[in-house]
Amino acid sequence: MPQRSDKIIVALDVDSVDNAESIIAEIGNSVGAFKIGLQLFTAAGPGYVSRLAERGIRVFLDLKFHDIPNTVAKAAVEASKFGVWMMNVHASGGGEMMKRTVAAVAENCEKERIQKPLIIAVTVLTSSNEETLREIGVDQDVEKQVVKLAQLAAESGMDGVVASPREVGLIRRAVVEPNFLTVTPGIRPKVATLDDQKRVTTFGQALANGSDYVVIGRPITQATDRRAALGSILNEVESS
Ligand code: C5P
Repeated sequence: MPQRSDKIIVALDVDSVDNAESIIAEIGNSVGAFKIGLQLFTAAGPGYVSRLAERGIRVFLDLKFHDIPNTVAKAAVEASKFGVWMMNVHASGGGEMMKRTVAAVAENCEKERIQKPLIIAVTVLTSSNEETLREIGVDQDVEKQVVKLAQLAAESGMDGVVASPREVGLIRRAVVEPNFLTVTPGIRPKVATLDDQKRVTTFGQALANGSDYVVIGRPITQATDRRAALGSILNEVESS
């Protein structure tokens, strides 16, 4: 049975390979995967993504593609060549964008005999709330918008979604596909700052809600003792 720590994806939101490597050296054997997002990808380049994957490290490439269907499908094919375990697009790019992406990546991975990465869709960012949706002209509450985008992602053949841990139950009820994954950032220990996150829970609550994987960044990466920070997040589950 997978360990609870395997469900943790640590966000390498840092500005250099050196800083990423110091996090990996400290907690690399104790978590399930590492996430490379826009900051590190832009700073370190695609070569670093491939090198991590070649070392047998599970990489979630979090570039949240959102463009016309042809561009996203082609960019996703290139990203799959890095050997990443998971990657993502924005569900709000629409059904055609997601369908064409899944089809193009599957076709190319088969042709080049590459393991097809899991492709998941971002619903509503965990830093967004109703006010943010209003600002961009979405007159729907956050939960309804998340469920709508999760259903669209499932219909479009995506492997799962990124959402707040607060919405996992709603997604599970709305999406019938049994293996549809929920990946949830917005994790904060009981005593912690929210930073820019708005829709948060603890790790324990995310697991209780049914999250398959959680993404944790600053509560671990910015701690002075990262092993201790990870340990106390894991212990919070035991004691909750
Ligand atoms: O530091 P923190 O734990 O808030 O990091 C969360 C990570 O998850 C960041 O890398 C952020 O880009 C990412 N993320 C998010 N909300 C989403 C999708 C990704 O916070 N909906």
